[in-house]
Amino acid sequence: MVETEEERQRAEIVRFGALLYDRRLAHGSAGNLSVRLADGTILVTPTNSSLGFLDPARLSKVSADGEHLGGDPPSKEAFFHLAVYAERESAAAIVHLHSTHSVAVSCLCHADSSNVLPPLTAYHVMKVGKLPLVPYFRPGDRKLADAVREAARGHHAMLLSNHGPIVAGRSLVDAVQIMEELEETAKLFFLIGDRPARPLTCEAIEELEAAFPS
Ligand code: 13P
Repeated sequence: MVETEEERQRAEIVRFGALLYDRRLAHGSAGNLSVRLADGTILVTPTNSSLGFLDPARLSKVSADGEHLGGDPPSKEAFFHLAVYAERESAAAIVHLHSTHSVAVSCLCHADSSNVLPPLTAYHVMKVGKLPLVPYFRPGDRKLADAVREAARGHHAMLLSNHGPIVAGRSLVDAVQIMEELEETAKLFFLIGDRPARPLTCEAIEELEAAFPS
């Protein structure tokens, strides 16, 4: 039988959940994934599920305004996924993780919260771009949706204070690749530590932005 687009997306969520878990970018029941379907409904991982052991038939389905349409109860953070989709027409998938190095960056004091990782490499600039820090609200707090929505207006990647990163992509593979790049840059940031670093120059960044517009 021919696989429907929804079945394909359900399988992709399970596949990438397992991949992130196997790469230790997700642990316990931390993190959530979602995909926006062509009819505007959203598939999202159920609350308290492990990304490593998802069941395609039990993924939650919600409407664009958050009504639970099917599957297990949705992630308590489905509301911030919806906020990003509402703000970014091009977003077709969202990944939220508690990946160690990115979370560590989210716990530091930052003089400039508009961009909390330096442009160390071309791929960070091309994939992630500027990474704003979103103020702290407890997981599940609806006020987080407003703060996320504001950041999503100008950014496809952001870091929740004392919590973790959110990335929106044009597909799930796109969002996962951006997330992996973000985590690797956070790792490099701590690896370099206090040594005098040489981030990319403004001219190099402008050249990349012109060559690879997002
Ligand atoms: P959910 O299990 O409700 O998706 O929450 C996980 C999480 O990552 C909280 O930040």
